[in-house]
Amino acid sequence: MPGPGRHRVVPALRRGAGRGQGRDGRGSRGRGRRAHSSWPNGEPRGDLLRLRLLRLRPLPLRNGPEPRRGRRLDGRTVSGLEGKVALITGGATGIGRAAAILLAKEGASIVIGDVNEEGAAEVVRKIESGGGSALARRCDVGAEQDIRALIETAEGEYGGLDVVFGNAGLLRTSALQDLSVDLFERHLRLNLTANFLLAKHAAPAMRRRGGGSIIFMASAGGLRGTRGSVAYNASKGGLVNMTRGLADELAGENIRVNCVCPGWVDTPFNRPFWEHAGEGAEEEVLRGVPLGRQSKPEEVAPAIAFLAGSGSSYITGQALVVDGGMMAT
Ligand SMILES: NC(=O)c1ccc[n+]([C@@H]2O[C@H](COP(=O)([O-])OP(=O)(O)OC[C@H]3O[C@@H](n4cnc5c(N)ncnc54)[C@H](O)[C@@H]3O)[C@@H](O)[C@H]2O)c1
Repeated sequence: MPGPGRHRVVPALRRGAGRGQGRDGRGSRGRGRRAHSSWPNGEPRGDLLRLRLLRLRPLPLRNGPEPRRGRRLDGRTVSGLEGKVALITGGATGIGRAAAILLAKEGASIVIGDVNEEGAAEVVRKIESGGGSALARRCDVGAEQDIRALIETAEGEYGGLDVVFGNAGLLRTSALQDLSVDLFERHLRLNLTANFLLAKHAAPAMRRRGGGSIIFMASAGGLRGTRGSVAYNASKGGLVNMTRGLADELAGENIRVNCVCPGWVDTPFNRPFWEHAGEGAEEEVLRGVPLGRQSKPEEVAPAIAFLAGSGSSYITGQALVVDGGMMAT
């Protein structure tokens, strides 16, 4: 309904008000009386047609109409993150940074774990300057004790843990014959084992809160393969399927587990890939992306906020692809 004073009341409509008018403004006596109020072909008669048009287009005030605006209704929002505690690994830059800032805007308190302490501190300052709450700790996700300490920090400082975003990761490229066991296993350690440990140690903390949401940063590279990236492909592919297993295992504790699979995101992370692929590769790769460009980290963060919050309360075990249509073609 337009607010009082926004629109001139149309006299014809006024006449319709009163006896026999239902709550929806339609005269109840008019209902079911089509034969009398319309021509045989079903067209309404002229006077009724005019009346209808007037209903559809309220007359503007002389000084120009104020546009109608949506109003925020009270109650459940899609994110439902107000008052939640969210832990993010690799939150100092790129997608992790964008997710930390968005989740904080949605009302969550943020705990960042990263080896880049300076970058993480900058994100904390940014969140605090916007009125949010965040803290950062040095955490190498390759070290189990760092992961445990980060979860203890979340519980100790904020009183619990509701959301975990396992985002830190590694990408190095190498032709198969040059790929060392050490480099292969480092991908498994940082992209897969670290997230297994994150889930293992976060689950008891979430259980104490009555449930939670775990989101892993997988990749389109976990759903398809690319030459020179087989270690990355193996680790992210394992992460996608670990998501499914954990979703089943933790569902009984009201803990949901999902992952996101971005395509090409414009961060320094992909630099090794572009260097390995050689000149012109970026343009060629992007020709395979229907939207024709890389995404910004801020375009991936909403998928994480969605999976973190109550709007996805019936979604678990899924890999949400955010790739500009690449996997669809
Ligand atoms: N950029 C892309 O195109 C793309 C696409 C798909 C998936 N991803 C995934 O997104 C995640 C984040 O990548 P990004 O693009 O935002 O890159 P990024 O380099 O901007 O961010 C990575 C963050 O992880 C941190 N980090 C690295 N190693 C760490 C460790 N051992 N312990 C703790 N923190 C560590 C870095 O300091 C950095 O803050 C990665 O898991 C990556 O695989 C990226």
